[in-house]
Amino acid sequence: MGKLSRVALIYIGAVVVIAVVLVARGPFTGLNWQYVVFLGILVIVSESRATQLRKGQLTWSSSSAAMLASVVLVGPVGAAIVGACTALGLRRGPSILQRVFNTAMYALSAYLAGRAFLALGGHVGLPDEGSFPAIIAPFAGAALVLVAANHGLLSGVLWLTRCPRQGPATALGGQGVGLSGRLLLSDLGYAAYGLLIAALWSVVGPFAPLLVLIPLFVARWAVAQFAEQQKAYEATVGALCQAVETKDFYTRGHSDRVSRGSVMIAREIGMRGERVEAIRYAGMLHDVGKLGVPTRVLQKTGKLTEEEYEAIQLHPVRGLDIVREIGFLDEALAGIMHHHERIDGRGYPMGLAGEEIPEFARVLAVADAFDSMTSTRSYRGARPVGEAIRELRKWSGTQFDPAFVAAFVAALGREGWQRPEPPEPPEPPGPPVLGTGELATLAAEDHDDPSSPLRVIDSL
Ligand SMILES: [Fe+2]
Repeated sequence: MGKLSRVALIYIGAVVVIAVVLVARGPFTGLNWQYVVFLGILVIVSESRATQLRKGQLTWSSSSAAMLASVVLVGPVGAAIVGACTALGLRRGPSILQRVFNTAMYALSAYLAGRAFLALGGHVGLPDEGSFPAIIAPFAGAALVLVAANHGLLSGVLWLTRCPRQGPATALGGQGVGLSGRLLLSDLGYAAYGLLIAALWSVVGPFAPLLVLIPLFVARWAVAQFAEQQKAYEATVGALCQAVETKDFYTRGHSDRVSRGSVMIAREIGMRGERVEAIRYAGMLHDVGKLGVPTRVLQKTGKLTEEEYEAIQLHPVRGLDIVREIGFLDEALAGIMHHHERIDGRGYPMGLAGEEIPEFARVLAVADAFDSMTSTRSYRGARPVGEAIRELRKWSGTQFDPAFVAAFVAALGREGWQRPEPPEPPEPPGPPVLGTGELATLAAEDHDDPSSPLRVIDSL
């Protein structure tokens, strides 16, 4: 934790002192300690099982629902004590100072929510049928105060402890409830479960939180698992891309940009969300088959032999072989396999024509060629976007699907396109590399560039 300014320490100290004074003042007479203990345990469990929503940053716990239930069941002082139980949460990460501040923040917020509940006509105790609908307005007011106080106090400490060079990164930040508007709305939504817990308490007693919160825990756990899985997918795709691009100096970032262009087309034609995600992966991996083409061929300068040309033409098939078993790629596999087919049937590897070519492959072909033309290659500089669009239109109907060329041009008109910076030139050709017999040469001509097809000479 970084060193805190004096103002930040005064702020934290003030929040802590106010929370302690409010709780210490009581009154404690008539307080149902049994409820306090049960709800306190619920807060401790909630804090211990907080879900991290973003690495190193926001966490979400269901403790606000428990605090709002305590507002109804045990009043402001009881709610503050329940809120203070966050201190006992078994969560790694927060420092002592963070823990102290979070505890005071939750206790103070819960106390203020309890006062708002009473001020708006709420009655402390087990709600029954007669409590509804009159209890809803005071409870909603209490929920608003709890969330606003929580976010307000946290915003204060984040602002006071912000690091000027890293924006909102903080010495205390990242714990407790986050600051985004979406999270604020979601907190308000979850607050409603507090009333549900309080209402069910009169029927099932302390089991009420279990009935209400277990389904929520399960849903949150599933969301967290899904997020983990997505991270694993990204890492897999990223590693394969990295491997491909290390083989070919002049195509650095190409996979990423083809992915971006394909997504632009997919969105333009109204493809649904899961397919857009799949085509994003397809763009990233469309040339993964280059891993199966000898580096000597990929980097060869000048004309290729028939055998070398065939090796290049096989890269879509090799790509499919490499990633076929990766389950989440689904439709992306067809895009990888057929991204060099042409509408007129003169492409490869299978010579499919028109709509025989999978839709993903027809989309990829447009984005692939466009990025190739607007990137620097060893044998030419990057072409202007306007010129590349003219080329796409020129080959529309023979090489490319006209509908996807039109969609891409429309999306480019709206969103624009950032051409990549020219790469730093590679080391000049050196002596033969020991053990390989190859010369370190510049990259060969680009198999994706429709305006400059590969040159082939007869077999030697
Ligand atoms: Fe390719």
